[in-house]
Amino acid sequence: MNIILLGPPGAGKGTQARFLEEKYGMLQLATGDMLRAAIRRAEPIGVEAKKIMDQGKLVPDQLMIKMIEVSIEHPACTRGFILDGFPRTVPQAEALDVMLASRHKKLDAVIELSVDEATLIERISGRFICAKCGAGYHDKFMPTKVPGVCDECGNKEFIRRPDDNAEVLKTRLKAFNEQTAPILPYYKGKNLLHIVDGMASMKEVQEKIESILEMAKKS
Ligand code: AP5
Repeated sequence: MNIILLGPPGAGKGTQARFLEEKYGMLQLATGDMLRAAIRRAEPIGVEAKKIMDQGKLVPDQLMIKMIEVSIEHPACTRGFILDGFPRTVPQAEALDVMLASRHKKLDAVIELSVDEATLIERISGRFICAKCGAGYHDKFMPTKVPGVCDECGNKEFIRRPDDNAEVLKTRLKAFNEQTAPILPYYKGKNLLHIVDGMASMKEVQEKIESILEMAKKS
């Protein structure tokens, strides 16, 4: 199955994509993670993207479309993929349709995680990741089992994203409302859109998404 997880910053797209990847073996294609990896490797695309991401704005469509076009060729995508962070504009959604059609692939579901703004701010401001393995945590909602020690790899160093602050978050939310939200009617028109209450617990959100995927499998 090929699905899209949509939602504002902090809605839980990455969290749910990792659960689904583990359960269904679909590949998570997270454009934000890809861009951050390009920044760490000082690739030209990373240098161009960093300035834009630090301001909370969107990276140009053509760059993102090319990135996804390369990613969906990954052999692991034959088991299906989860798009996390793409598409984020109507031109990206249209380009995705073209690239899937030319490869005889299709989308099975588009899942929007709906979360109110106060909760998004709380989630974003408490998020941190392991500096070594990238495992994600939250001060309040998902702390490490042993304080200051990564559950996955035992590392003791953690980082917070430079764009995870109140000022940049305002711009990220504006970008979502003005440039990303218009793609919701696009997918509604194709009968692919499912809205999930992203305010529920991580487990409840996961169960809801799984029931949508089970239904999509049968249709
Ligand atoms: P990206 O990395 O995609 O960031 P984002 O969309 O802002 O999303 P986040 O990763 O911040 O949030 P999330 O929904 O994954 O939430 P998470 O699961 O971590 O993009 C970054 C930047 O890259 C963009 O601003 C843009 O510049 C650029 N970019 C990327 N793709 C692009 C594209 N296609 N076009 C143009 N530019 C692009 O959860 C957040 C926290 O909440 C975590 O700590 C988690 O533990 C906690 N949490 C999650 N779910 C729950 C729950 N149900 N209950 C309680 N806590 C929860």
